[in-house]
Amino acid sequence: MRPAGRSAATPTARATAAGVLRLVIFGLGCAGERVEPSPAPAPPPAATPDGPWIRPAVPPEAQIAGISGMKAADCAPCHAEIVAEWRTSTHAAAWKDPQFQQELAKDPGVAYLCINCHTPAAAQQAQLHAPTALLRSPVVSPNPAYDAAFQDEGVSCMSCHYRPGGQIAAAHEGVRAPHPTVYAPELREAGTCTTCHQAVTRVEDTLICTFNTGAEWEEAAPGMACPACHMPEIARSHAVGAPIRAGGRHTFPGSLIPKKAAYTPEELAIIGEWAPGATLRGERTAGGLRLHLRNERAGHRLPTGDPERQLYLRLLRADTGAILWEERIGQTWTWWPRAERTADNRLARGETRTYDVPLPDGRAAGLIVRLDHERISEKNATMHGLRDYARARTVIELDAASLPVAAP
Ligand code: HEC
Ligand code: HEC
Ligand code: HEC
Ligand code: HEC
Ligand code: HEC
Repeated sequence: MRPAGRSAATPTARATAAGVLRLVIFGLGCAGERVEPSPAPAPPPAATPDGPWIRPAVPPEAQIAGISGMKAADCAPCHAEIVAEWRTSTHAAAWKDPQFQQELAKDPGVAYLCINCHTPAAAQQAQLHAPTALLRSPVVSPNPAYDAAFQDEGVSCMSCHYRPGGQIAAAHEGVRAPHPTVYAPELREAGTCTTCHQAVTRVEDTLICTFNTGAEWEEAAPGMACPACHMPEIARSHAVGAPIRAGGRHTFPGSLIPKKAAYTPEELAIIGEWAPGATLRGERTAGGLRLHLRNERAGHRLPTGDPERQLYLRLLRADTGAILWEERIGQTWTWWPRAERTADNRLARGETRTYDVPLPDGRAAGLIVRLDHERISEKNATMHGLRDYARARTVIELDAASLPVAAP
């Protein structure tokens, strides 16, 4: 990649720098190119550095007639509730996310590829890039349509609703809107999401794209499209003066780890109820605990998405927080000199794992069992200078002493 910069780095910094560059490629639809989930880790195949994946999904000339613009802020006067929901979502943070900004700055030669998923409308991009046969040498030109406020919106309304010719994809037939709409039943399908959430390709030795959620979902829950879970159902009027129709809330909850220090109470009220993917049960056995961790609700592997995501099942002391036992559930990658997935023990949909955990002196009093979800390790968060940034969340916590005694 950038040999000079890399060779100057320490081995640790090198490995991390490579590891956090998750590359690109809208190369979906090529089933043969997918990394299969566990148990057999397979390396991604080589990429062909061309194709639609290097272009923005919404072209520079795009406009929507009848309304003031294409930003969420332009939709807000009439779709206020939906805009407020979307603002709580990770999608709305896809550009401003401090972790994204840190990682984007690391390898400027490929940053133009990242932005086609994180800011997919051309008007969200400061410059236009025309790809060439050389991955790191696109032709760069000025972008008269660039709108910095639109860029800040990340994965905004147009990312999913834009249709060629300046139409807005509608979820219902017969809507009467002040802007052009086209009935698009495919909007509710997984394809709306997998354009970004399914992309597995090797671009360079240390640069790979590893979003495999679409393939995991096909294997696990193909009958239920992503929006059916990630856009909780609601019947309401979707625009000022419009009739009540069944639709989906635009909160897109997932891990519920905020892209900042914490959610505000107002945001939590908008997000509402969202049950995590895992359930955890336990019993006390002679001298230990038996724990059952299950992927009950996620329609794909748990965790999914970014390869740095990990679940930790832990036994801790309630008073000091000292960790007495832990099990990590996630993918393991080596990033240098060539990115390879070396292990993957994530939970398949419906899978239950049972762990027998010894108790220090056979006593459960004062101990807690906890399931944590980490999006980025403490080490990498520190290295990226991510202060005041929530990198993890406690998903479930149980008091060990109040677990039932196992039946003999
Ligand atoms: C194919 C589309 C695509 C491309 C290209 C892409 N990303 Fe992403 N990115 C995603 C998706 C989808 C997620 C959400 C997955 C998740 O959070 O687990 C994501 C999440 C992230 C996150 C947050 C991870 C987390 O755990 O919260 C960071 C940081 C990031 N991307 C950086 C980058 C960088 C840097 C590049 C360019 C080198 C890039 N992305 C290119 C689709 C893409
Ligand atoms: C001046 C008011 C107004 C503005 C501004 C506006 N819309 Fe609409 N929109 C409407 C109305 C009214 C409807 C019809 C709703 C219905 O019949 O349920 C509608 C319908 C829609 C639909 C289809 C709804 C369905 O049930 O399928 C979508 C999607 C949509 N708008 C998206 C947007 C987006 C995205 C923006 C911003 C870029 C936007 N609208 C800006 C008033 C507006
Ligand atoms: C234009 C690309 C794009 C599309 C289309 C898209 N996403 Fe995302 N999604 C992202 C990116 C990028 C992130 C991560 C942003 C970050 O962390 O900085 C993300 C994050 C998420 C998260 C992570 C929540 C969390 O933080 O744990 C969920 C859940 C999600 N998307 C669901 C969906 C669903 C469901 C759809 C389809 C209805 C969809 N996405 C369509 C790009 C996209
Ligand atoms: C990640 C993809 C995605 C993004 C971003 C997104 N939408 Fe949607 N939108 C959908 C899907 C999918 C549906 C269909 C949901 C359903 O009916 O179950 C939908 C439905 C709608 C509807 C019709 C009501 C309904 O729930 O069926 C309106 C209006 C709408 N969106 C407006 C917006 C506005 C305004 C924004 C930006 C603030 C936005 N959308 C952002 C995917 C998205
Ligand atoms: C059967 C319901 C269901 C379906 C279908 C589903 N998901 Fe999820 N998804 C969940 C749940 C529940 C979580 C929360 C997992 C957790 O606790 O971390 C989740 C988490 C996520 C995350 C955050 C990463 C993580 O591990 O928490 C992303 C990204 C995501 N889903 C994307 C998608 C996409 C894209 C699709 C369709 C291809 C999809 N999901 C289909 C239920 C579902």
